[in-house]
Amino acid sequence: MKKIKRIGILTGGGDCPGLNAVIRAVVHTATHKYGIEIFGIRDGYAGLINKQVQPMDRKEVSGILPRGGTILGTSNRDNPFKYPVAVENGKKVYGDVSDRVQKTVEYNELDALITVGGDGTQAIAHQLFTRCGIPVVGVPKTIDNDLDGTDVTFGFDTALSIATLSIDKLHSTAESHHRVMVIEVMGRYAGWIALEAGLAGGGDVILIPEIPFNMNRIVQKIHDRENDGKRFSLVVVAEGAKPEGGELVVARKVQDPNDPLRLGGVSQFVGNRIEDLTGIETRFTILGHVQRGGSPTAFDRILATRFGYHAVEAVMDQKFGYLVGLRGQDIVTTPIEEAIAVPRRVQPDSQIIKTAMALGTCFGI
Ligand code: F6P
Repeated sequence: MKKIKRIGILTGGGDCPGLNAVIRAVVHTATHKYGIEIFGIRDGYAGLINKQVQPMDRKEVSGILPRGGTILGTSNRDNPFKYPVAVENGKKVYGDVSDRVQKTVEYNELDALITVGGDGTQAIAHQLFTRCGIPVVGVPKTIDNDLDGTDVTFGFDTALSIATLSIDKLHSTAESHHRVMVIEVMGRYAGWIALEAGLAGGGDVILIPEIPFNMNRIVQKIHDRENDGKRFSLVVVAEGAKPEGGELVVARKVQDPNDPLRLGGVSQFVGNRIEDLTGIETRFTILGHVQRGGSPTAFDRILATRFGYHAVEAVMDQKFGYLVGLRGQDIVTTPIEEAIAVPRRVQPDSQIIKTAMALGTCFGI
């Protein structure tokens, strides 16, 4: 087995609270336990493509545990296998620049990479491992909680807390004005944030991508509440929710081969329909990137710290091509390929959905 002396770390994809806790844990474990060097890669895979790599010591990670964002920077655009290499007739042409990644790894004598990110970042890590032979270990991050190979990703708990707090705030103003409040949360094609924040915040209607909704059911629920003397309602909608037989609501389509759809706006669509169909004054709020900002919760700090430590352990054991994750109380490793095969989404027949339905929550069905 090759002796491990230098490990590179990058944070890729959308940021989320807890990234700095992982970086700190990786640097501390490497320097304190093993006496090896850590190299920070700037802005995700962009840093590997453009040779933006620098050594990190404990001074650099001092005080970052409670800080949101990532001190390394991140990017959700720079895929080395589909990288813009030219512009022809005003359109970007994409090519494979993974040889540049390989050169950066060799030049800096990195024995392994720790890739902290969601499905997109891990899919690239997997390709770097299988196609280029670069030794990688993945750490699962995303507020969406849609990555397999772990019971939960770090960042989710913080986003959930922010969304819940926001629902609480909308609750009081909805009640005062006798309005319907529609709140849109992130999550892409998974409904975890909407489902759990909806439950925690007492949402009357929860709309998730996994259960296409019927407007008539939502209207019925609001009328039932009115008949019950409840003159306001809270609707929590995931950005990826869509009506039965209908389309996703897309804020913008962009020229990006990795992810051309910018989701957003379903709350406005749902809110307008509710107002038209019930005559009740309705407002919508799109929570947006607030969910990804600020200080991580204690849960996320601890999970991120454990992931960081175990990622270094996996590197030292030369368990490459694996992703660390939480199963029950323990940190385990799963082949990245398995973890990214199918996104982890809410199961419509799961216990948590049945519980919410039994309590009267409407899922638009
Ligand atoms: O994957 C995390 C996430 O925040 C999604 O919930 C959301 O759809 C997307 O990223 C937003 O991406 P961007 O930061 O590119 O707007």
